Amino acid sequence: MSEWFRTFFARDYIDRYARVTDEDVTRLEVDGLIKALELRPPARVLDLACAYGRHALALANLGYEVTGFDLSFDLLAEAELRAQGAGATVRLMEGDMRKLPFVHEFDVVVNLFTSFGFFDDERDSRRVMEGIHAALDEGGRLLLDVINRDAILRDFQPRMWREADDGYVLSESTYDPARSRLIGRQLHVSTKGRVDESSFTLRLYAMHELRALIEAAGFEVQAVYGGFDLSPFELDSPRIVMVARRP
Ligand SMILES: C[S@@+](CC[C@H](N)C(=O)[O-])C[C@H]1O[C@@H](n2cnc3c(N)ncnc32)[C@H](O)[C@@H]1O
Repeated sequence: MSEWFRTFFARDYIDRYARVTDEDVTRLEVDGLIKALELRPPARVLDLACAYGRHALALANLGYEVTGFDLSFDLLAEAELRAQGAGATVRLMEGDMRKLPFVHEFDVVVNLFTSFGFFDDERDSRRVMEGIHAALDEGGRLLLDVINRDAILRDFQPRMWREADDGYVLSESTYDPARSRLIGRQLHVSTKGRVDESSFTLRLYAMHELRALIEAAGFEVQAVYGGFDLSPFELDSPRIVMVARRP
């Protein structure tokens, strides 16, 4: 279970999340991040944990110099196919975010849709932050987007159904307050009756904790929003969208 993310984010991930990560959602996120970062092409952008490239491709099409980095071979293969289909130029790299190979290569790093908090060992999360810091040029910025722990806990839903591309996904989860982790499983029930099960455990962050973690890696936090509409962060904000700068 400690390396659950190696199997959770395979091909089936695309179908399971298709309805919550569709083109409209992606457009809103891309518009929001461009506005939050006051980004102008041809800035060099690292999409860290890019999956099948929904943000990376959109940014490349807008003239940014984009690198997508992810652990999942399957999702990167899909990103490659989509890039070819869209005529987009994106550098795609397979690797583990705990061992980022970049030194002073980017103006911006984005880490989107809760792609942080996967590891059991908190030192690994700190390692990721340090790797992001090293990857940025001086003055470079990080935009991190994760779900807001406080909002989840105030209205905790141990069981939830949502639509998938093919069928439905049932999520069942519990919260471990000793480690601030959401522990759960998802059952993907396809219209043909096939059931796929996948498990996860995710470190949830309160805003102040995330801020402390980012600052400990040497960043200055510049802004915190409650979503990609760039509303101010509040207790019940669905997301924590944090913008930080490498001094
Ligand atoms: C929640 S998905 C988000 C994907 C993408 N940012 C988006 O918004 O569609 C998390 C991604 O993190 C990737 N991932 C998980 N563990 C990783 C690791 N150790 N190193 C790099 N990528 C990882 C997964 O393969 C998956 O593509």
